[in-house]
Amino acid sequence: MFCNSAISCIIVPTVQAAPNPMEMIGHREFLFLADLIASKSRIQLGPDKRALVTARLHRRLQKLGVDYKGYCEFLKTPAGMPEIRILVELVSTNFTYFFREQEHFDCLREMVLPEWISSFPHPSTAGKFRLWSAGSSTGEEAFSAAMIIWDFMQEHPSKDWQVEATDISDRVIDEARKGIYRTKQLQRVSREDLRQFFLKGTGPYDGTFRVKPFLRKKVNFQRLNFFDHPYPVEKGFQVIICRNVMIYFDRETQHHLCQTLSDYLAPGGYLMVGHSEGLITTFEHQLERVLPSVWRKSGNRERIASRRRADQATEKTTE
Ligand SMILES: C[S@@+](CC[C@H](N)C(=O)[O-])C[C@H]1O[C@@H](n2cnc3c(N)ncnc32)[C@H](O)[C@@H]1O
Repeated sequence: MFCNSAISCIIVPTVQAAPNPMEMIGHREFLFLADLIASKSRIQLGPDKRALVTARLHRRLQKLGVDYKGYCEFLKTPAGMPEIRILVELVSTNFTYFFREQEHFDCLREMVLPEWISSFPHPSTAGKFRLWSAGSSTGEEAFSAAMIIWDFMQEHPSKDWQVEATDISDRVIDEARKGIYRTKQLQRVSREDLRQFFLKGTGPYDGTFRVKPFLRKKVNFQRLNFFDHPYPVEKGFQVIICRNVMIYFDRETQHHLCQTLSDYLAPGGYLMVGHSEGLITTFEHQLERVLPSVWRKSGNRERIASRRRADQATEKTTE
């Protein structure tokens, strides 16, 4: 037998009606889903999120033709495994826009990039600047950073750069790869940047703008769940932006994630978090606060000094 929906094949013996739009998810079903979501993504859903979960799942359950009980039963079966990713996507918050939290982008332009360049005693020395937008959602944060780096690097042709952007949700990563945005998300992009980095949509794409290919090529989007190791990105980032992500995790998880992200920073690298996120840092994180929501990993001075020594040694041997 073939059927379009695997779920209806599994659940048919106990067919349930799709939930009534006014019907709230049952207490037991809510607890089951909240536990399952926390075990896969560490996203914490307290009892106050029952209405939110109901609202986010309603259309999915209607599409599948099951009620909350049937949905939970399905998730317990091997055939329900792929549905868990969809469940996590449905409950996670993906809200974002270009140049959200201006302080981070000013810091990147005025402090991080000039400091990185000044650590090379010779302008022609090769080097690669790497930034990671961790929890990137649909890509606005990664492309905002990419525009700044692109502009900066025009004066430094011997340097290469790359932006990595990751998220737990396949759906947002697919959207981000397309790089198509509505004007509402682009309100903070200057006219000049719009002209330089975007193409205007016409016909069916009227009212949208697409990031130009030269910039899209510099941003690599991948799925990454912070709690599945190993990560598909290499260590040694100059900047990690992990913003408005940790608020969804409990304190212990935030602490571990800070440790992991700190391990992925190069010495002297910067971690940028959301303004509302009270980052828990301890000595072992090796992070010191430099701005209200920007932290720096120790070791920058040592790194610059050792690079200078290495360059001086090379100079001597070539004299
Ligand atoms: C509110 S958005 C933040 C977007 C952007 N960083 C900003 O500040 O505008 C939070 C993102 O974190 C992602 N996320 C949640 N849990 C995650 C996890 N365990 N691993 C990776 N990404 C996760 C969500 O899918 C969502 O896209």
